[in-house]
Amino acid sequence: MNIDVITIFPGLVEGFVSWGVLGRAIAAGRLNVRAHDLRAWSTDRHRSVDDEPYGGGAGMVMSPAPFFEAVDSVREPGGHVVLLSAKGRKLDHGGVARLAGHAQLVLLCGRYEGVDERVAAVADEELSIGDFVLAGGELGALVVIEAVARLLPGVLGNEKSLSFESHAAGTLEYPQYTRPAEYRGLRVPAVLLSGDHGAIERWRREQSERLTRARHGPAPRAAER
Ligand SMILES: C[S@@+](CC[C@H](N)C(=O)[O-])C[C@H]1O[C@@H](n2cnc3c(N)ncnc32)[C@H](O)[C@@H]1O
Repeated sequence: MNIDVITIFPGLVEGFVSWGVLGRAIAAGRLNVRAHDLRAWSTDRHRSVDDEPYGGGAGMVMSPAPFFEAVDSVREPGGHVVLLSAKGRKLDHGGVARLAGHAQLVLLCGRYEGVDERVAAVADEELSIGDFVLAGGELGALVVIEAVARLLPGVLGNEKSLSFESHAAGTLEYPQYTRPAEYRGLRVPAVLLSGDHGAIERWRREQSERLTRARHGPAPRAAER
C-alpha cells in the first residue's frame, strides 16, 4: 500500500513512521509512506498556504489551491483521498478496515483554523479521530496509518491475533496477563495458571462479553441492528 501525507510538517510523519511496527513494515516493503510538504505546491514567493478568513474572524484558513495541486500531483489511479477534520465522520474499526482495502491513501492535514471548505471537494471523505479538536491533522493521519498498517497482510508477525483483538468482532478483548503470577498482592486469575485450555477459552469468552457489556452496554437486539 502507498500512503501519501500532505502536511506543512512532513518531519512529524517521517519521524513517527520510522519506529516499531510501521518502521519494520516500511523496511520490508509492505507499506510505503511518503510525507510531502504542502508548501511545495504554493505559488507565491513566501510559500504561503493560508490566508485571512472571508467574513472576518480569528486566525488563518488554509487555501484550497495547494491541496488541489498536491492531490493532482500525488494521486494514483484508484487512490483514495481523506481530509482529516474535526467535523468528519468518526473513525472506527470498520472504517479502518475499509481504508485498508485501497491501494493508495492520500491524507490531507489541516492546521491553523482549518482548511477552506472547498478542500472537501478534492477529498473522497472527511474523517475525524474523535470529538475533540487537535492543532493539526498529522496525529489523525498517523492514527489512520498505524491502524490501517496493522491490518495489511504480513505487517504483524502473528495475524491470527487480529481476529481476537478489541473491536475486530464487535467485542473488547479479554484481559491479558504475563509473569509474575503475583505482583504487589495482585494475582493472575487462577484459571490462566490451570493448564486447562477449555476452561481458559471459556473464561476468556466470558470476560470479553462482560467487558463489552460493561463498557459498551448490552448488545443490540436483532431487530435494532
Ligand atoms: C485547529 S484544527 C481546526 C478546527 C476547526 N476550526 C473546527 O472547529 O472544526 C486544524 C486541523 O486539525 C485537524 N484536526 C483537528 N481535530 C481533528 C480531529 N478530531 N480529527 C482529525 N483531524 C483533526 C484538521 O485537519 C484541521 O483542519
